[in-house]
Amino acid sequence: MTATEQQLTEPLMGPAEALSELFTPAGKHNPHPLYDALWELGPVIPLGPSGTLVLGYDEICTALRDPRFLVTDAEVHTATGMIDHSSWQCFTKIMMFSNSPDHERMRRFSRWAYSPGQVAERRHLAVKAAERWTARLADLEDGGPLDLVEAFATRVPISVTGEMLGIPEADRMALRTAITAATTAFEPIFDRDELLPADAGMDLLVDYLDDLVRERRRQPGDDVVSVMVRDRDATGALSEEELVAGLVMFLIAGVQSPSDLIGTMVRLALRHPAEGRGMTTDDDLVSAFVTETLRYDPPNHVLTRAAGTDVDFYGHRVAAGSRALLVLAAANRDPRRFTDPATFDITRRDNRPLSFGLGPHYCLGAAFARMQAETAVPVLLRRFPRMALAGLPTYRDQLVTRGFARMDVTLTP
Ligand code: HEM
Repeated sequence: MTATEQQLTEPLMGPAEALSELFTPAGKHNPHPLYDALWELGPVIPLGPSGTLVLGYDEICTALRDPRFLVTDAEVHTATGMIDHSSWQCFTKIMMFSNSPDHERMRRFSRWAYSPGQVAERRHLAVKAAERWTARLADLEDGGPLDLVEAFATRVPISVTGEMLGIPEADRMALRTAITAATTAFEPIFDRDELLPADAGMDLLVDYLDDLVRERRRQPGDDVVSVMVRDRDATGALSEEELVAGLVMFLIAGVQSPSDLIGTMVRLALRHPAEGRGMTTDDDLVSAFVTETLRYDPPNHVLTRAAGTDVDFYGHRVAAGSRALLVLAAANRDPRRFTDPATFDITRRDNRPLSFGLGPHYCLGAAFARMQAETAVPVLLRRFPRMALAGLPTYRDQLVTRGFARMDVTLTP
C-alpha cells in the first residue's frame, strides 16, 4: 500500500461530519474511513423522518429478509416524481425494483437465463473474451501506461453479454458507455438535472433493445433475446415493455458490476502480489480471492428499501414510507462478523459477504458474475506477471454502483 493510500484509509472525522461527507464526490471516492467513523453511532443510525442508515451485518440480513421492507417500486417513484424520468420509467419495470406479486412473476420468467447450466455454457465465451482482450493489450503496449479499465475490465463483460444477446461487435462500446451512464440513476440525487445523463443512457439502451426485440421476433436465432421473445409471446407472462426493460437489466447488470469486480480484483492483485500470483495456478485460490474482493470493496455499496409500514427495527422506529439505506460495504467490514475486517485476507473462513444481497431479491446473476471474474483475471495475470500500477486509480463519482473510472498500468516495467 502506498503512503497516500495508507493516509486515506485512516478514520479522518467524527460521525456527523462523516454522514454529511458520504455522498459528496470526495466521500464517494473514499468511503471506508467514513463508514468507520459512522460505526461510532452503532449499526443502525436514524437520520430523521426521511430515513435510517444501516451498517450492521445482522441488521442488514434482517432488513433484506423482512417483507415489510420493500424495494423502491413504481409506486414509490411515482410519488417522488422520478417516474417522469426515462431511467426510472425503465427501472421500475424490472424485477429489482418490483415487489410481490410482480417480482415473483418476473423472476420466474427469466430464471432460466441465470441457471448453473447456462453459466457453465457461457464459460467458453468468458475465456475467449479474456484471451482476446489480453492479446490486444500486448499489441497496444508500447512501454507507456495504459488504462486497464478501458482496455480490459470494461471489455470482457460487454463481449460476453454482447455474444449472449447477439449484439453485433460494432454496437457494443456505445452501449457500454450508456450502461455506466444509466447506473448513475441509482445514486441519491439532490437536483433532478443530475438524472439527465442516466436518462440519455437509458434512452439509448431502450431504443436499441426495442429494435433488437423486433428484429428477433422477425428472425429468431438461438440467443437470449430470441428465447425471451419466444417465451413472452407464447405465455404472455410479461408486457412488451417489461420484456425490453428485462433485457436492458440483463445488459446493465451483466456488464457494469462484473466490470467493476474485475477492476477491483486486478487492483488488489497488484497490492497483494503473492495472492495475485497464486490466482494464476490455483482455482480454489481464485474463488477465495473473488469472495474476499467482494467483501473488501463490493461493486454495490448501498441498497435502498422503503418501509411499507411502521417497523420497530433494533429499538429504532422506521416510519412507513421512509427509506432504509443498507450499506453492504460497511456490513462486509462489521467487526462483530469479520475478524480484522479492514485487512484483505483470502484465507478467511466462513467468508460470506452481503455483496450479492440476500432474501427474495438475491442477485440472480451471482454465479455468472463470479464465473466471468474467475475466468478473466487469471488469464490477464498469467500473460502479464510484471504488471504494475502507473499512478493511483480513480473511482467514478458513484457509490451505489462503485468502481474504477481509470487505472493506469504498465505491463512490462
Ligand atoms: C459482481 C457482480 C454483481 C454484483 C455485485 C451484483 C449485486 C446484486 C445485488 C446486491 C442485488 C440485490 C439488489 C437488491 O436486493 O435490491 C442484485 C440483484 C440482481 N442482479 Fe446482480 N450483481 C452482479 C452481477 C449480476 C449479473 C452478471 C447479472 C445478470 C446478468 C445480475 C442480475 C441481477 C438481477 C436480475 C437482480 C435482481 C434480482 C431480483 O430482484 O430478484 N447481477 N445484484
